[in-house]
Amino acid sequence: MQTAIQQKLHAALQRRRTLGRLRELTTITALNATDVVIAQRRYTSFSSNDYLGLSHHPKVVTALRNAEHAGSRASPLVTGYSRAHHDLAAQLAEFLQRDKVLLFSSAFAANVGSLGSLGRYYDHLWLDRLAHASLLTGAKQSSVNWRRFAHQEFQSLARKLKVTAQANLVVAESIYSMDGDELDQQGFRGVIAAPHNDGYVDDAHGFGLLGEYGNGICADYTQTELAVVSLAFGKACGVAGGAVAVAEEVAEYLINFCPEFIYSTAMPGAQARAIQASIKLLQSAEGDRLRQQLQTNIAQFKDQCTTLQLPIEASSHAIQTLIVGSDAAAVTQSQALRQLGIWCTAIRPPTVPEGSARLRITLSAAHSNAQIIQLTRALAATRQYGDVVNE
Ligand SMILES: Cc1ncc(COP(=O)(O)O)c(C=O)c1O
Repeated sequence: MQTAIQQKLHAALQRRRTLGRLRELTTITALNATDVVIAQRRYTSFSSNDYLGLSHHPKVVTALRNAEHAGSRASPLVTGYSRAHHDLAAQLAEFLQRDKVLLFSSAFAANVGSLGSLGRYYDHLWLDRLAHASLLTGAKQSSVNWRRFAHQEFQSLARKLKVTAQANLVVAESIYSMDGDELDQQGFRGVIAAPHNDGYVDDAHGFGLLGEYGNGICADYTQTELAVVSLAFGKACGVAGGAVAVAEEVAEYLINFCPEFIYSTAMPGAQARAIQASIKLLQSAEGDRLRQQLQTNIAQFKDQCTTLQLPIEASSHAIQTLIVGSDAAAVTQSQALRQLGIWCTAIRPPTVPEGSARLRITLSAAHSNAQIIQLTRALAATRQYGDVVNE
Protein backbone atom coordinates (compact mmCIF):
# COMPACT_ATOMS: atom_id res chain seq x y z
CA MET A 1 0.00 0.00 0.00
CA GLN A 2 1.59 3.27 -1.13
CA THR A 3 1.15 6.51 0.78
CA ALA A 4 -0.09 9.57 -1.11
CA ILE A 5 3.48 10.91 -1.26
CA GLN A 6 4.87 7.62 -2.51
CA GLN A 7 2.27 7.63 -5.29
CA LYS A 8 3.39 11.10 -6.34
CA LEU A 9 7.02 10.02 -6.26
CA HIS A 10 6.14 6.96 -8.28
CA ALA A 11 4.44 9.10 -10.90
CA ALA A 12 7.44 11.43 -11.14
CA LEU A 13 9.79 8.46 -11.53
CA GLN A 14 7.50 6.90 -14.09
CA ARG A 15 7.62 10.08 -16.17
CA ARG A 16 11.43 9.96 -16.07
CA ARG A 17 11.40 6.27 -16.97
CA THR A 18 9.11 6.87 -19.93
CA LEU A 19 11.44 9.58 -21.19
CA GLY A 20 14.31 7.11 -20.85
CA ARG A 21 15.99 9.45 -18.34
CA LEU A 22 15.86 7.46 -15.16
CA ARG A 23 19.18 7.78 -13.33
CA GLU A 24 20.68 4.77 -11.62
CA LEU A 25 23.75 4.04 -9.55
CA THR A 26 26.48 1.89 -11.04
CA THR A 27 28.95 0.26 -8.67
CA ILE A 28 32.49 0.35 -9.98
CA THR A 29 35.87 -0.91 -8.86
CA ALA A 30 38.65 1.41 -9.97
CA LEU A 31 41.73 -0.67 -10.75
CA ASN A 32 43.87 2.38 -11.45
CA ALA A 33 43.36 5.89 -12.81
CA THR A 34 41.86 4.66 -16.09
CA ASP A 35 40.58 1.09 -15.75
CA VAL A 36 37.41 0.05 -14.00
CA VAL A 37 35.57 -3.19 -13.38
CA ILE A 38 31.79 -3.06 -13.61
CA ALA A 39 29.66 -6.18 -13.21
CA GLN A 40 32.79 -8.34 -13.53
CA ARG A 41 33.87 -6.81 -16.81
CA ARG A 42 36.89 -4.62 -17.30
CA TYR A 43 36.60 -1.29 -19.16
CA THR A 44 38.81 1.64 -20.02
CA SER A 45 37.01 4.59 -18.52
CA PHE A 46 36.65 7.92 -20.27
CA SER A 47 34.15 9.20 -17.74
CA SER A 48 36.14 10.32 -14.72
CA ASN A 49 37.46 13.79 -13.92
CA ASP A 50 40.82 12.42 -12.80
CA TYR A 51 42.59 14.59 -15.39
CA LEU A 52 46.11 14.02 -14.12
CA GLY A 53 45.63 10.52 -12.74
CA LEU A 54 46.35 11.68 -9.18
CA SER A 55 43.58 9.58 -7.60
CA HIS A 56 46.00 6.64 -7.57
CA HIS A 57 49.29 8.50 -7.21
CA PRO A 58 51.41 6.83 -4.50
CA LYS A 59 52.16 10.16 -2.80
CA VAL A 60 48.48 11.05 -2.58
CA VAL A 61 47.45 7.59 -1.37
CA THR A 62 50.28 7.54 1.19
CA ALA A 63 49.29 10.97 2.51
CA LEU A 64 45.74 9.72 2.97
CA ARG A 65 46.91 6.56 4.74
CA ASN A 66 49.40 8.34 6.99
CA ALA A 67 47.02 11.09 8.10
CA GLU A 68 46.76 11.67 11.82
CA HIS A 69 43.01 11.03 11.82
CA ALA A 70 40.24 9.93 9.50
CA GLY A 71 37.12 11.71 10.70
CA SER A 72 37.18 15.34 11.79
CA ARG A 73 34.48 14.76 14.47
CA ALA A 74 32.82 18.19 14.35
CA SER A 75 32.05 21.24 12.25
CA PRO A 76 34.98 23.63 11.65
CA LEU A 77 33.76 26.19 14.18
CA VAL A 78 33.31 23.64 16.96
CA THR A 79 36.33 21.31 17.10
CA GLY A 80 36.49 20.03 13.52
CA TYR A 81 39.16 22.36 12.13
CA SER A 82 42.43 20.51 12.64
CA ARG A 83 46.04 21.19 11.75
CA ALA A 84 45.46 19.28 8.48
CA HIS A 85 42.71 21.76 7.45
CA HIS A 86 44.75 24.74 8.55
CA ASP A 87 47.80 23.57 6.57
CA LEU A 88 45.78 22.89 3.41
CA ALA A 89 44.00 26.27 3.56
CA ALA A 90 47.33 28.08 4.09
CA GLN A 91 49.01 26.14 1.27
CA LEU A 92 46.17 27.04 -1.10
CA ALA A 93 46.05 30.71 -0.09
CA GLU A 94 49.73 31.03 -0.90
CA PHE A 95 49.44 29.07 -4.13
CA LEU A 96 46.48 31.13 -5.34
CA GLN A 97 47.61 34.49 -3.94
CA ARG A 98 44.41 35.02 -2.01
CA ASP A 99 43.94 36.21 1.58
CA LYS A 100 41.98 33.17 2.65
CA VAL A 101 40.73 29.79 1.49
CA LEU A 102 37.74 28.16 3.16
CA LEU A 103 37.28 24.42 2.80
CA PHE A 104 33.96 22.67 2.16
CA SER A 105 33.12 18.99 1.94
CA SER A 106 32.33 19.39 -1.77
CA ALA A 107 32.51 22.02 -4.46
CA PHE A 108 28.74 21.74 -4.68
CA ALA A 109 28.49 22.85 -1.03
CA ALA A 110 31.11 25.58 -1.62
CA ASN A 111 29.07 27.06 -4.48
CA VAL A 112 25.66 26.75 -2.85
CA GLY A 113 26.95 28.16 0.43
CA SER A 114 29.03 31.00 -0.95
CA LEU A 115 26.68 32.14 -3.67
CA GLY A 116 23.68 31.66 -1.39
CA SER A 117 25.21 33.84 1.35
CA LEU A 118 27.19 36.43 -0.60
CA GLY A 119 24.60 36.73 -3.35
CA ARG A 120 22.33 38.61 -0.94
CA TYR A 121 24.56 41.65 -1.08
CA TYR A 122 24.04 42.14 -4.80
CA ASP A 123 20.99 43.51 -6.57
CA HIS A 124 21.27 40.98 -9.40
CA LEU A 125 23.07 37.71 -10.04
CA TRP A 126 23.87 36.87 -13.66
CA LEU A 127 24.66 33.24 -14.41
CA ASP A 128 26.00 31.86 -17.67
CA ARG A 129 23.32 29.64 -19.19
CA LEU A 130 25.61 26.62 -18.86
CA ALA A 131 26.61 27.30 -15.25
CA HIS A 132 26.71 24.18 -13.07
CA ALA A 133 23.68 23.05 -11.04
CA SER A 134 25.44 24.02 -7.79
CA LEU A 135 25.70 27.64 -8.95
CA LEU A 136 22.06 27.68 -9.93
CA THR A 137 21.08 26.23 -6.56
CA GLY A 138 23.21 28.83 -4.77
CA ALA A 139 21.65 31.65 -6.78
CA LYS A 140 18.17 30.42 -5.91
CA GLN A 141 19.14 30.12 -2.25
CA SER A 142 20.34 33.74 -2.15
CA SER A 143 16.72 34.89 -2.74
CA VAL A 144 18.10 37.64 -4.96
CA ASN A 145 16.85 38.42 -8.42
CA TRP A 146 18.91 36.10 -10.63
CA ARG A 147 18.96 35.68 -14.39
CA ARG A 148 20.84 33.59 -16.90
CA PHE A 149 22.65 35.08 -19.86
CA ALA A 150 23.37 33.35 -23.18
CA HIS A 151 26.48 31.20 -22.94
CA GLN A 152 29.61 33.42 -23.05
CA GLU A 153 27.66 36.34 -24.56
CA PHE A 154 29.46 39.01 -22.58
CA GLN A 155 28.89 41.83 -25.04
CA SER A 156 25.14 41.71 -24.76
CA LEU A 157 25.44 41.19 -21.00
CA ALA A 158 27.64 44.31 -20.76
CA ARG A 159 24.98 46.31 -22.63
CA LYS A 160 22.30 45.13 -20.21
CA LEU A 161 24.39 45.93 -17.15
CA LYS A 162 25.32 49.39 -18.42
CA VAL A 163 21.83 50.68 -17.92
CA THR A 164 21.73 49.73 -14.26
CA ALA A 165 23.71 51.41 -11.52
CA GLN A 166 23.02 48.42 -9.33
CA ALA A 167 25.42 45.86 -7.90
CA ASN A 168 25.79 42.83 -10.16
CA LEU A 169 27.58 39.54 -9.60
CA VAL A 170 28.51 37.74 -12.83
CA VAL A 171 28.92 33.99 -12.42
CA ALA A 172 30.93 31.88 -14.87
CA GLU A 173 33.14 28.80 -15.08
CA SER A 174 36.80 28.69 -16.11
CA ILE A 175 36.16 25.54 -18.18
CA TYR A 176 32.57 24.53 -18.74
CA SER A 177 31.83 21.12 -17.30
CA MET A 178 29.71 19.66 -20.08
CA ASP A 179 31.23 21.30 -23.17
CA GLY A 180 34.85 21.76 -22.15
CA ASP A 181 35.07 25.26 -23.60
CA GLU A 182 37.14 27.87 -21.80
CA LEU A 183 35.84 31.11 -20.32
CA ASP A 184 36.00 34.01 -22.76
CA GLN A 185 38.37 35.92 -20.52
CA GLN A 186 38.35 39.11 -22.55
CA GLY A 187 34.57 39.37 -22.49
CA PHE A 188 34.30 38.40 -18.83
CA ARG A 189 37.04 40.78 -17.77
CA GLY A 190 35.34 43.63 -19.62
CA VAL A 191 32.08 43.06 -17.74
CA ILE A 192 33.50 42.59 -14.24
CA ALA A 193 35.87 45.55 -14.58
CA ALA A 194 32.92 47.99 -14.66
CA PRO A 195 32.02 49.73 -11.40
CA HIS A 196 29.17 47.97 -9.53
CA ASN A 197 30.07 44.60 -11.09
CA ASP A 198 31.88 41.69 -9.44
CA GLY A 199 32.88 38.25 -10.75
CA TYR A 200 32.48 34.74 -9.38
CA VAL A 201 34.34 31.96 -11.21
CA ASP A 202 33.88 28.28 -10.57
CA ASP A 203 37.34 26.89 -11.33
CA ALA A 204 36.36 23.23 -10.77
CA HIS A 205 37.73 22.07 -14.13
CA GLY A 206 40.54 24.62 -14.51
CA PHE A 207 42.23 24.32 -11.13
CA GLY A 208 45.28 22.06 -11.45
CA LEU A 209 45.40 22.43 -15.23
CA LEU A 210 45.34 26.11 -16.19
CA GLY A 211 47.98 28.64 -15.17
CA GLU A 212 51.71 28.15 -15.04
CA TYR A 213 51.61 25.73 -12.11
CA GLY A 214 48.01 24.67 -12.30
CA ASN A 215 46.89 27.57 -10.14
CA GLY A 216 43.94 27.97 -12.50
CA ILE A 217 41.95 31.13 -12.98
CA CYS A 218 43.75 32.80 -10.06
CA ALA A 219 46.81 33.06 -12.30
CA ASP A 220 44.95 35.57 -14.45
CA TYR A 221 43.08 37.74 -11.92
CA THR A 222 44.08 39.41 -8.71
CA GLN A 223 41.83 39.15 -5.70
CA THR A 224 40.67 42.73 -6.29
CA GLU A 225 39.70 41.92 -9.87
CA LEU A 226 37.82 38.71 -9.11
CA ALA A 227 35.76 38.56 -5.92
CA VAL A 228 35.24 34.79 -5.58
CA VAL A 229 36.93 31.71 -7.00
CA SER A 230 35.57 28.30 -6.11
CA LEU A 231 37.65 25.13 -6.40
CA ALA A 232 36.95 21.42 -6.63
CA PHE A 233 39.42 18.80 -5.41
CA GLY A 234 37.67 15.87 -7.06
CA LYS A 235 38.91 16.73 -10.56
CA ALA A 236 42.61 17.40 -11.31
CA CYS A 237 43.55 16.80 -7.65
CA GLY A 238 42.00 13.33 -7.82
CA VAL A 239 40.53 13.46 -4.30
CA ALA A 240 37.22 15.19 -3.37
CA GLY A 241 36.04 18.35 -1.61
CA GLY A 242 35.77 22.02 -2.47
CA ALA A 243 36.84 25.48 -1.38
CA VAL A 244 36.48 29.18 -2.02
CA ALA A 245 39.43 31.55 -2.34
CA VAL A 246 38.51 35.06 -1.26
CA ALA A 247 39.53 38.29 0.49
CA GLU A 248 39.84 38.35 4.28
CA GLU A 249 36.54 40.09 4.88
CA VAL A 250 34.60 37.79 2.56
CA ALA A 251 36.04 34.77 4.38
CA GLU A 252 35.12 36.23 7.74
CA TYR A 253 31.60 36.85 6.51
CA LEU A 254 31.25 33.26 5.28
CA ILE A 255 32.62 31.87 8.56
CA ASN A 256 29.86 33.78 10.31
CA PHE A 257 26.94 33.51 7.90
CA CYS A 258 27.36 30.59 5.49
CA PRO A 259 25.25 27.66 6.76
CA GLU A 260 27.05 25.07 4.59
CA PHE A 261 30.32 26.03 6.27
CA ILE A 262 29.03 26.50 9.80
CA TYR A 263 26.69 23.56 10.23
CA SER A 264 28.53 20.75 8.48
CA THR A 265 31.25 18.39 9.70
CA ALA A 266 34.64 19.44 8.36
CA MET A 267 36.07 17.23 5.60
CA PRO A 268 38.13 14.34 7.04
CA GLY A 269 41.66 15.35 7.99
CA ALA A 270 42.95 12.45 5.90
CA GLN A 271 41.24 13.99 2.87
CA ALA A 272 42.87 17.35 3.57
CA ARG A 273 46.30 15.66 3.75
CA ALA A 274 45.68 13.84 0.45
CA ILE A 275 44.66 17.12 -1.23
CA GLN A 276 47.82 18.76 0.12
CA ALA A 277 49.89 16.01 -1.46
CA SER A 278 48.07 16.54 -4.77
CA ILE A 279 48.73 20.27 -4.69
CA LYS A 280 52.42 19.70 -4.01
CA LEU A 281 52.45 17.48 -7.09
CA LEU A 282 50.67 20.16 -9.15
CA GLN A 283 53.45 22.58 -8.21
CA SER A 284 56.27 20.16 -9.00
CA ALA A 285 58.12 19.20 -12.19
CA GLU A 286 55.99 16.05 -12.19
CA GLY A 287 52.87 18.24 -12.27
CA ASP A 288 54.26 20.01 -15.34
CA ARG A 289 55.00 16.70 -16.97
CA LEU A 290 51.46 15.41 -16.27
CA ARG A 291 49.88 18.57 -17.68
CA GLN A 292 52.03 18.20 -20.79
CA GLN A 293 51.05 14.56 -21.12
CA LEU A 294 47.39 15.52 -20.87
CA GLN A 295 47.88 18.07 -23.67
CA THR A 296 49.59 15.40 -25.78
CA ASN A 297 46.68 13.03 -25.17
CA ILE A 298 44.13 15.70 -26.08
CA ALA A 299 46.01 16.49 -29.30
CA GLN A 300 46.25 12.80 -30.15
CA PHE A 301 42.51 12.31 -29.54
CA LYS A 302 41.58 15.32 -31.68
CA ASP A 303 43.89 14.26 -34.52
CA GLN A 304 42.36 10.82 -34.60
CA CYS A 305 38.85 12.28 -34.52
CA THR A 306 39.74 14.39 -37.55
CA THR A 307 41.12 11.36 -39.38
CA LEU A 308 38.03 9.30 -38.56
CA GLN A 309 35.68 12.23 -39.27
CA LEU A 310 34.19 12.18 -35.80
CA PRO A 311 32.30 15.47 -35.27
CA ILE A 312 33.56 16.41 -31.82
CA GLU A 313 32.89 19.89 -30.46
CA ALA A 314 35.65 22.50 -30.35
CA SER A 315 37.48 22.14 -27.04
CA SER A 316 41.17 22.16 -26.33
CA HIS A 317 40.69 20.78 -22.83
CA ALA A 318 40.29 17.41 -21.20
CA ILE A 319 36.51 17.49 -21.61
CA GLN A 320 35.59 16.52 -25.16
CA THR A 321 32.04 16.09 -26.38
CA LEU A 322 30.40 14.19 -29.15
CA ILE A 323 26.89 15.56 -29.39
CA VAL A 324 24.61 12.76 -30.46
CA GLY A 325 21.23 14.49 -30.25
CA SER A 326 18.44 12.32 -28.98
CA ASP A 327 18.58 10.61 -25.59
CA ALA A 328 18.04 7.21 -27.13
CA ALA A 329 20.88 7.65 -29.60
CA ALA A 330 23.33 8.71 -26.88
CA VAL A 331 22.37 5.78 -24.65
CA THR A 332 22.54 3.29 -27.52
CA GLN A 333 25.98 4.46 -28.56
CA SER A 334 27.21 4.45 -24.96
CA GLN A 335 26.01 0.85 -24.59
CA ALA A 336 27.62 -0.15 -27.87
CA LEU A 337 30.91 1.33 -26.64
CA ARG A 338 30.72 -0.96 -23.62
CA GLN A 339 30.69 -3.96 -25.91
CA LEU A 340 34.06 -2.70 -27.13
CA GLY A 341 35.48 -2.29 -23.62
CA ILE A 342 34.98 1.49 -23.32
CA TRP A 343 33.05 3.10 -20.48
CA CYS A 344 31.74 6.49 -21.56
CA THR A 345 28.53 7.63 -19.94
CA ALA A 346 25.79 9.27 -22.02
CA ILE A 347 24.81 12.66 -20.62
CA ARG A 348 21.19 13.56 -21.14
CA PRO A 349 18.83 16.42 -20.30
CA PRO A 350 18.19 17.90 -17.79
CA THR A 351 21.97 17.89 -17.19
CA VAL A 352 22.45 19.30 -20.72
CA PRO A 353 19.99 21.29 -22.90
CA GLU A 354 17.19 19.40 -24.68
CA GLY A 355 18.25 17.77 -27.95
CA SER A 356 21.94 17.81 -27.03
CA ALA A 357 22.34 14.40 -25.40
CA ARG A 358 25.97 13.49 -25.77
CA LEU A 359 28.94 11.38 -24.98
CA ARG A 360 31.06 13.37 -22.57
CA ILE A 361 34.57 12.08 -23.02
CA THR A 362 37.10 12.97 -20.37
CA LEU A 363 40.76 12.47 -21.08
CA SER A 364 43.47 11.96 -18.51
CA ALA A 365 47.24 12.16 -18.52
CA ALA A 366 47.04 8.56 -17.32
CA HIS A 367 45.48 7.31 -20.58
CA SER A 368 47.92 5.54 -22.84
CA ASN A 369 48.29 6.11 -26.54
CA ALA A 370 46.79 2.65 -27.12
CA GLN A 371 43.74 3.45 -24.98
CA ILE A 372 43.05 6.62 -26.95
CA ILE A 373 43.32 4.71 -30.23
CA GLN A 374 40.94 2.11 -28.79
CA LEU A 375 38.50 4.90 -27.88
CA THR A 376 38.48 6.68 -31.24
CA ARG A 377 38.15 3.43 -33.16
CA ALA A 378 35.27 2.42 -30.92
CA LEU A 379 33.58 5.82 -31.39
CA ALA A 380 33.87 5.44 -35.16
CA ALA A 381 32.62 1.84 -35.07
CA THR A 382 29.58 2.72 -32.97
CA ARG A 383 28.57 5.93 -34.73
CA GLN A 384 26.02 4.04 -36.79
CA TYR A 385 24.03 3.29 -33.60
CA GLY A 386 23.68 6.97 -32.78
CA ASP A 387 22.79 7.83 -36.39
CA VAL A 388 20.21 5.04 -36.72
CA VAL A 389 18.34 6.05 -33.59
CA ASN A 390 18.44 9.73 -34.55
CA GLU A 391 16.86 9.17 -37.96
C1 LIG B 1 31.59 23.18 -12.64
C2 LIG B 1 31.36 22.34 -11.43
N1 LIG B 1 31.20 22.95 -10.25
C3 LIG B 1 31.00 22.24 -9.12
C4 LIG B 1 30.94 20.88 -9.14
C5 LIG B 1 30.69 20.12 -7.87
O1 LIG B 1 31.87 19.51 -7.46
P1 LIG B 1 31.88 18.42 -6.32
O2 LIG B 1 31.85 17.12 -7.02
O3 LIG B 1 33.12 18.64 -5.53
O4 LIG B 1 30.67 18.64 -5.47
C6 LIG B 1 31.11 20.19 -10.34
C7 LIG B 1 31.05 18.73 -10.35
O5 LIG B 1 30.66 18.04 -11.19
C8 LIG B 1 31.32 20.94 -11.53
O6 LIG B 1 31.46 20.34 -12.71
